[in-house]
Amino acid sequence: MNQDDIILLGIESSCDDTSAAVIRNGQVLSNVVAGQEIHQLYGGVVPELASRAHESNIIPVIDAALKEANITKSQLKGIAFTKGPGLPGSLMVGVSFAKALSLALAIPLVEVNHMQAHVLAHFAYKSQEEKKFPRFPFLCLTVSGGHTQIVWVKNELEMEIVGETLDDAAGEAFDKIAKIMGLPYPGGPLIDKLAKEGNPERFPFPHPQIPELNFSFSGLKTSVLYFLRDRDKEEPGFTEKNKTDLCAGIQCTITDILIQKLDKAIKLYKPQDIALAGGVSANSELRKKVAELAQKRGIQAHIPAFEYCTDNAAMIAVAGLFKYKKGLFSDLSASADPRYNS
Ligand code: KG4
Ligand code: ZN
Repeated sequence: MNQDDIILLGIESSCDDTSAAVIRNGQVLSNVVAGQEIHQLYGGVVPELASRAHESNIIPVIDAALKEANITKSQLKGIAFTKGPGLPGSLMVGVSFAKALSLALAIPLVEVNHMQAHVLAHFAYKSQEEKKFPRFPFLCLTVSGGHTQIVWVKNELEMEIVGETLDDAAGEAFDKIAKIMGLPYPGGPLIDKLAKEGNPERFPFPHPQIPELNFSFSGLKTSVLYFLRDRDKEEPGFTEKNKTDLCAGIQCTITDILIQKLDKAIKLYKPQDIALAGGVSANSELRKKVAELAQKRGIQAHIPAFEYCTDNAAMIAVAGLFKYKKGLFSDLSASADPRYNS
């Protein structure tokens, strides 16, 4: 096997973004993402519609990624795909496509854990200036629509989840609270935008007391639900009238909960570097607070470029490359695992 010039295709289809990326020896040549607007009509991801959209998007997205990278199918040396965790039907579209293409091209298949790929997105780069990788071992706060984890990253292949949510994920909290407020899906980016105009101190929400490095966000969601229900009854239109201050208060609470636990983990693990990953790492306040925390503790923060925050295939290809170099391939019996955690 020629270890000198490894060109990999990455395929991501775990939720509602269909993505394909081409990397050459770790350098990202293309990273194409097709979102699915259909879910906005329903206020959340509808799994059956997501699978159908992946099916129609996957070929054009892969074609676009190859074209943008100026790479032909015959130059590919391997295919990395998301095995899980994720929605079963959505994962199956990516897994089946990856298997068919690897069979047709006679190249190895590499299965990737989506959550580990969010962490390893920090090793994606397009130019040499972007090559500022976290030093092992480091702590990563991984916050997405389905997960909230503090991960002790020992090396590219070994990661330990040292804290996680006991109920809703941070992104889920943003999305569900936005829905309660009558805002469209996905609520996270919209709360972020509205919060910029608001006063975070006007509506303080309680912090849960959760032991160790774990999190809980369902109590916050319930307290916002009852608070708005009562206030809207007393004063119709309250939520709409106060939405910027409400968004600022909610965002401040969610990000403070995340930062307090990350700080606790820093004190326990004493890393040189910390990193932020997952869709919620696009949140402007969280990015600011993680950078401030690192400065306060005299350590280095790694905040991902926006392109690598939400779901993307570049992170799948990068995570796949680490396994590829160790010869960790899958055969054609590979399957999707919606609860994959190894
Ligand atoms: O990682 P991701 O793209 O998909 C999953 O694997 O879940 O994360 C999506 C989540 C959604 O809950 C979305 O609302 C949230 O990331 N998100 C944000 C922001 N951008 C995306 N949450 C808060 N502020 C943002 N700017
Ligand atoms: Zn994700």
